[in-house]
Amino acid sequence: MMTKAQPVVLSIDDDQFVRESLANFLEDFGFAVLQARDGEEGLEVFAANRPDMVLVDLRMPRMDGLQVLARVREISPETPIMVVSGAGDIRDVVEALRRGAWDYLIKPIQDMNILLHSVQSCLDRARLLRQNREYQQSLEESLDKLHRTQKEMIHSAKMAALGDLVAGVAHEVNTPIGVCVTASSFLAERTRQLRDLYEKGEMKRSDLEKYLTLAEESSASVLTNLERAAELVQSFKKVAADQSSEEKRSFELKSYLEQILVSLRPQFKRTPHTVHMDCPEGLTLDSYPGAIMQIITNLIMNSLIHGFADGLPGEIFIKVEPVGDAVALSYRDTGVGMDKEQRDRIYDPFYTTKRGSGGTGLGMNIVYNLVTQTLKGTILLETSPGQGAIFLLTLPRDPELPAGPTAPDDA
Ligand SMILES: Nc1ncnc2c1ncn2[C@@H]1O[C@H](COP(=O)(O)OP(=O)(O)OP(=O)(O)O)[C@@H](O)[C@H]1O
Ligand SMILES: [Mg+2]
Repeated sequence: MMTKAQPVVLSIDDDQFVRESLANFLEDFGFAVLQARDGEEGLEVFAANRPDMVLVDLRMPRMDGLQVLARVREISPETPIMVVSGAGDIRDVVEALRRGAWDYLIKPIQDMNILLHSVQSCLDRARLLRQNREYQQSLEESLDKLHRTQKEMIHSAKMAALGDLVAGVAHEVNTPIGVCVTASSFLAERTRQLRDLYEKGEMKRSDLEKYLTLAEESSASVLTNLERAAELVQSFKKVAADQSSEEKRSFELKSYLEQILVSLRPQFKRTPHTVHMDCPEGLTLDSYPGAIMQIITNLIMNSLIHGFADGLPGEIFIKVEPVGDAVALSYRDTGVGMDKEQRDRIYDPFYTTKRGSGGTGLGMNIVYNLVTQTLKGTILLETSPGQGAIFLLTLPRDPELPAGPTAPDDA
């Protein structure tokens, strides 16, 4: 009876004595042995039974061993084949090995233990190959899955950043709108009082004068605050659109960086931390503002979350200088800095020292990809514990142009 665990060997040989002695011997060691008298029959038995291994004679009538070898390898490249040949056919043995036979035995077989050993080691090797392939396949599948998850997480990290931005907008715009509501309800109240006096014929000249002053002040305050709100909405609209789109456009860097800082203002409220920016005016880039927005936002959020210790005022310095066809942007914080492990792994996806308290570890991975891929620039980190962090970015003014000579030599 052939159970699944019992290895099945097919022996193809025109010599009945050889076939039978091989079969008897191998069966004693727990193998199931199928027999075929020539190549053609061998292939039929092979196709019908898919044995775990084939032993094939090289010299046979009708179809020789090399042909059988070629066919079996076509049908099932992973099935081990061992050639069994007469002592005079060494050239053929070499040829068979060249064409993919796994091993060979010379007839007459002097020591059956050699046969057993060869068969077992062929089967072991086949099993290892199969396991290896299965392992590799499942590895590739997990890797694929990981890449997909990573993409999804990066997308949701972007969406979360956008959500933060929207919350920030609501918060910032709330103040001027609140002032407008107060001022206009105050004005309405005073208008009602004045009308009362007027209708009763009790209105004095001084009442009207007071009212006019108040009306002037209130409407001025409403106007200023509505203008402020409109301005905020305008700049948020731009930044939000840039953040969600990957569009390339020409923009003035300084005012753009200022807009980004305005949009991050809510994050600094109720903290003692400050940002200093030093950027020459009139420096235009033809690049991806959304990417720059995301980079600066991530760097600043990291300084706030990881860099600055509770209570102590921290400082951030952003300095921009033109360097040939590029700009050098240095970002420095006066926070706790990073040790070697953090420094080496900061750009790894999912590396975070704040797992469990909101960190996904994707922030700096996104930054790295945006700098090097979208903006075609470079990023360097200098840091050590207690020394704060400095990120040095070089960003081409136009990522699509080939990098030119960087010597600023315009006489
Ligand atoms: N300015 C900094 N000062 C000190 N450590 C930092 C600073 N920036 C980054 N790090 C360290 O690098 C790690 C990785 O940063 P990254 O922005 O990739 O992830 P995260 O901030 O932990 O999570 P996420 O940004 O996805 O919410 C942080 O967990 C922190 O240990
Ligand atoms: Mg982060």
